[in-house]
Amino acid sequence: MASLNDIRSTFLNYFEKQGHAVVASSPLVPRNDPTLLFANSGMVQFKNLFTGLETRDYQRATTSQKCVRAGGKHNDLDNVGYTARHHTFFEMLGNFSFGDYFKADAIKFAWELLTEEFGIPKEKLLVTVYHTDDEAADIWKKVAGLSDDRIIRIATDDNFWRMGPTGPCGPCTEIFYDHGDHIWGGPPGSPEEDGDRFIEIWNVVFMQNEQFEDGTMKPLKMQSIDTGMGLERVGALLQGKHDNYDTDLMRNLIEASADATSSDPDGPGKTHHRVIADHLRSTSFLIADGVMPSNDGRGYVLRRIMRRAMRHAHLLGASDPLMHRLVPALVRQMGGAFPELGQAQAMIEETLRLEETRFKQTLDRGLKLLDDELAGLPEGDVLPGASAFKLYDTFGFPLDLTQDALREKGREVDTAGFDAAMAEQKAKARAAWSGTGEAADSAIWFDIVDAYGATDFLGYDTETAEGQIATLVMDGAEARSAKAGQEVQIILNQSPFYAESGGQVGDKGLIKTEAGSAFVTDTKKSQGVIIHIATVQEGEIVKGSAAVLEVDHTRRTSIRANHSATHLLHEALRAALGDHVAQRGSLNAEDRLRFDFSHGKALSLEEIAGVEKDVNSYIRQNAPVETRIMTPDDARAIGAQALFGEKYGDEVRVVSMGTQAGSGKGSNGETYSLELCGGTHVRQTGDIGAFVMLGDSASSAGVRRIEALTGQPALDYLRAQDHRLAAVALDLKAQAADVPARVKALLDERKALSNEVAQLRRELAMAGTGGQGGGAEAEVVNGINFVAQVLSGVSGKDLPALIDEHKARIKSGAVLLIADAGGKAAVAAGVTDDSKDKVSAVDLVKAAVVELGGKGGGGRADMAQGGGKDVTNADAAINAAKKVLEG
Ligand code: ALA
Repeated sequence: MASLNDIRSTFLNYFEKQGHAVVASSPLVPRNDPTLLFANSGMVQFKNLFTGLETRDYQRATTSQKCVRAGGKHNDLDNVGYTARHHTFFEMLGNFSFGDYFKADAIKFAWELLTEEFGIPKEKLLVTVYHTDDEAADIWKKVAGLSDDRIIRIATDDNFWRMGPTGPCGPCTEIFYDHGDHIWGGPPGSPEEDGDRFIEIWNVVFMQNEQFEDGTMKPLKMQSIDTGMGLERVGALLQGKHDNYDTDLMRNLIEASADATSSDPDGPGKTHHRVIADHLRSTSFLIADGVMPSNDGRGYVLRRIMRRAMRHAHLLGASDPLMHRLVPALVRQMGGAFPELGQAQAMIEETLRLEETRFKQTLDRGLKLLDDELAGLPEGDVLPGASAFKLYDTFGFPLDLTQDALREKGREVDTAGFDAAMAEQKAKARAAWSGTGEAADSAIWFDIVDAYGATDFLGYDTETAEGQIATLVMDGAEARSAKAGQEVQIILNQSPFYAESGGQVGDKGLIKTEAGSAFVTDTKKSQGVIIHIATVQEGEIVKGSAAVLEVDHTRRTSIRANHSATHLLHEALRAALGDHVAQRGSLNAEDRLRFDFSHGKALSLEEIAGVEKDVNSYIRQNAPVETRIMTPDDARAIGAQALFGEKYGDEVRVVSMGTQAGSGKGSNGETYSLELCGGTHVRQTGDIGAFVMLGDSASSAGVRRIEALTGQPALDYLRAQDHRLAAVALDLKAQAADVPARVKALLDERKALSNEVAQLRRELAMAGTGGQGGGAEAEVVNGINFVAQVLSGVSGKDLPALIDEHKARIKSGAVLLIADAGGKAAVAAGVTDDSKDKVSAVDLVKAAVVELGGKGGGGRADMAQGGGKDVTNADAAINAAKKVLEG
């Protein structure tokens, strides 16, 4: 019996032989679609090839595409576990032609593969064609020899395939398998077509038109082929089963579930095992593709599937978390075809374990509440919406989980009542809110989130994506369009633009639509809505249109490097300075990073060098940067750094990077940096490139601030420093290495010279004094020797030394010197020790200063100094001093 893995290979190999490139499945979160929640068919990744917007180096391709149908328009979640063919996750096998072969070859390939490679008996197959497509009908007759009654013409949209309200589309032909008359049902188009006898196994679409927003449909420039065959369906058929869950792969997962719960795979818990097997696949693949459980958007779809599975595990009596224990079985089954599963295994297991551990805390109590409610409810009554809301709000029961639990009891939920309770809670939150007055904090965002929902943030995994413009806000009110030159706030259903928070600046970039483009100058967030603050560049931006969203990649790359480096810096500072180091603020901008932290004193040059070296060594470790979602309490329990006083939600992202180096404590492969953080980071620490600290300064009392650079700006900075050094070396005519010694020698020489100059000035000022002829003679005032002199060419600094020399010369008395400092006056007075009881130098200076247009002056009784604005009054100043002496 061919396994599903064999069947997938047979399909891909067959088309490879027919000249098709074997292309890997695209991720489940589509990058190139404005509205699609998850990839739900093989053509999603090729959409732009059909319309000619994009070309690749192949015109034929074949894939096995991962698909999820849950949460969006195609939502199979409710039926999974209860039917033979519903899945939240499935694989779609497909072959594609982009303007290469068309109907004839597509039909020939399909027929050959089914009847020859897969060996399906011809008489078991029949087909449908679009009612006007005679060409396809003729080809089927020719290629397969099918009689007219087995080529059924269908006039409905069942045979005209569209990927959505817009985009490539075309008539299709579907191939059906007849499971035999022992099963009830009729051929397609018959009143009994919904029965299970005739099962569609392959849809071959003739892509020849494009559907536009205004309802028109135009022929595509080239004719293409898009096909889709559910692997699980065709697998069931080839393995002689009627139920997809009886195929080898699904059966192995069911048995893993049964083993882990010591229960019978086909016993009373059969449905639970089927739900678990299906949900294990969708949740694991979603996590591997970067979706994390959350309370809105794709993350909430994941959470709903996870919790639904967890309730079924609980019903099987699993007392410990179950789902994560089944991941190895899934990796064994599917890791060969999808290597991403094995690569993300640890992350998948941990995410499932954390979610299940957490949900278990409320699951029991929630189920008990549900039982109590039902016990009091009259037969046939629906569960009141308020009760379902309480289960949702208090116990974390997604609505569909409650509905699933009631289904077994034949009951339903009053969903209108549930919606009303939800609306009431939102109204209360709004009433309790008081804004800060900033634009991003206006009450309008409550209305916007109510009307359009929160924006799904895609920017952890991608910097370009497509989205749909939910609405526009101009001057505080909703608007339908904005024209070139106008400023507008653009709101989308999803966006890769990071909104400013946690110290990381908001993204800039471009929003392009068919009618015009806008430059995003900043991104902010309010009430879960990402606000793109933009200026329309050309044309107009219109509410409702699809848009291509491009974050400024170079800028974001620098921001990411700076943010990740901040985490490494934080840890390096803690290691170097102690555990008292705690983050007090940060800025992660495109050109630099800034980190404020608690620490009492300036860092020494050695500490700065040591921290910088540490950060660079973890950059070179090139360790992967990993993110996990957990409760703030769990995060703290594993030692994650949290911001003091910060209010965290129910769950947080925990970013880890690096492995402890060295042989000391904590070096046994322990994570180096572990922080609560919602920002965007590099994939590997090596992406930071380089780290250079610009030094540290005081930010406020007990808080230091470090600024630093990463990547090319860090290297540019070092290069600029080197240039400066080279320029200095050139001026000094020295080697760069000798510059410090040369500069020191120059400074020493300069000091010696200036001492010499000062000495010479003093000598000059003293020249001609006393016995050496001319200059200031001492006169006797009131019995005290008094020398007074006005000097030019000396500064106030020189005066004390000159005073001392005069004092030594006259031996007893008082000295007053006034220096002409460029029109201003510096004054100093000195009194010899034996005269201090007669007069104070301070009084002499004070009296002189007043005449010189100054104030104050001070010192000791033997030496005082002061200054004034105007040296021209020097004579009056000397006279004033004399008056003091006269008493
Ligand atoms: N895109 C086509 C489908 O999903 C093949 O059925």
